[in-house]
Amino acid sequence: MKFIHLTDPHLTAAGSLFDIDVCERLRQAVASINHHHGDAEMVMVTGDIAHWGEPGAYDHAAEIFAEFTMPWYPLAGNHDKKPAYFEGLPMAPRDDGDRTCFHLETSGGLFLVLDTAIDGQPEGELDDVQLAWLDQKLSESDRSAFLFMHHHPMISGISALDQIKLENSDALAAVIDRHPGQISHLFFGHMHRTFHGSWRGLPFSTVKSTAHQVTAEIHSDLPLVSSREMPAYAVVLIDDDAICIHDISYLEEDKAFTYDRDSGKPSQSM
Ligand SMILES: [Fe+2]
Repeated sequence: MKFIHLTDPHLTAAGSLFDIDVCERLRQAVASINHHHGDAEMVMVTGDIAHWGEPGAYDHAAEIFAEFTMPWYPLAGNHDKKPAYFEGLPMAPRDDGDRTCFHLETSGGLFLVLDTAIDGQPEGELDDVQLAWLDQKLSESDRSAFLFMHHHPMISGISALDQIKLENSDALAAVIDRHPGQISHLFFGHMHRTFHGSWRGLPFSTVKSTAHQVTAEIHSDLPLVSSREMPAYAVVLIDDDAICIHDISYLEEDKAFTYDRDSGKPSQSM
């Protein structure tokens, strides 16, 4: 099974942010995904659809995401604002309240999507309703499960990001621990950089934003340092015995080349 992980487009009503044309960058990602990965089962968008949360930003999102040739599923991040999020993206899944919390039965397993965003605060939190919902969904299924949310639950080493991580990660860990081995992977956004590893034995990954990035100020007390590094999305392949994740720097496709094995001479641009 193949799906796409895309995150943090940070759209604005004006179309740009920090001198980056964030709408165009998302359009280019959608075009690249449609062209190269039209066989993907879906696109998962792990939050921060808008930067300021204005209605006009969600109008852009609805128009650009509509270009996908496969289903797409967003969730809310700390920059998103409700109800503008739901008004601009009426097709976005939600629970019977205002949480972007839902599940999908996919050919690769059970996708469980959590809403860690609390309006008005940058750090994340999972309420008791969602924790109980997660526990129940895991109890009801014997399929391999994949978790999606916006905030990272672990200490990453980048202190400016760790100050705005998921606050009650112990509560999430307690639910996960009640279902040993059932969750295969955790996907999140929020980091705006390449970052992967394992948390309490659970493999995790995120991917660069389609807008601006965050530099790796590891174990420093610097405030958040942003960067105009190239954006990316991830192609995720789920098989019976492997989960493979390929980050795609979609604005650098013109840099590809082949080379002659014997001479080492570059022979052709792709
Ligand atoms: Fe973000």
